[in-house]
Amino acid sequence: MDVIHIDVNGQVRETDSDPATPLAMFLREELELRGTKIGCGNGECGACTVIMDGRAVCSCLVPLGRASGRQIDTIESLGEVDDLHPIQQKLVERGAFQCGFCTPGVVMSLVALLRANPEPSDTEVRTALQGNLCRCSGYVKLLEAIGEIVREGAHER
Ligand code: FES
Ligand code: FES
Repeated sequence: MDVIHIDVNGQVRETDSDPATPLAMFLREELELRGTKIGCGNGECGACTVIMDGRAVCSCLVPLGRASGRQIDTIESLGEVDDLHPIQQKLVERGAFQCGFCTPGVVMSLVALLRANPEPSDTEVRTALQGNLCRCSGYVKLLEAIGEIVREGAHER
């Protein structure tokens, strides 16, 4: 089987796994990057969102073969528990999540948007996040916190 090379968080990783393996599984099981969550496993919840070549994608829908040669950024590329990325810090300060299962995917969708468009409109924010479902926070605090992040430009390291 051909070896697949994928740049994950700035480091080229190799695998001879089945090219049909979902990228989300590879990240979690082979690389032990478990910040990427798997909820529905079929592209409906956004919990598995990562950035691939600058675009937010559902990694449960990306077979490894299609990720070959691409640059993948996961939530682990942003911050550490004791050194959070400004977006993560703001979400914590604002109590913008409950169980937190959706949060890595939300953050990665937001990061992808803000890298491409640092001053998005409310509509652009909602469009960018429409694939990220949250089953428990009710969205109110989350959207308020995201509004602050965008208004304050509080997303740069
Ligand atoms: S786990 Fe990928 S979209 Fe739900
Ligand atoms: S905070 Fe629980 S799913 Fe969003």
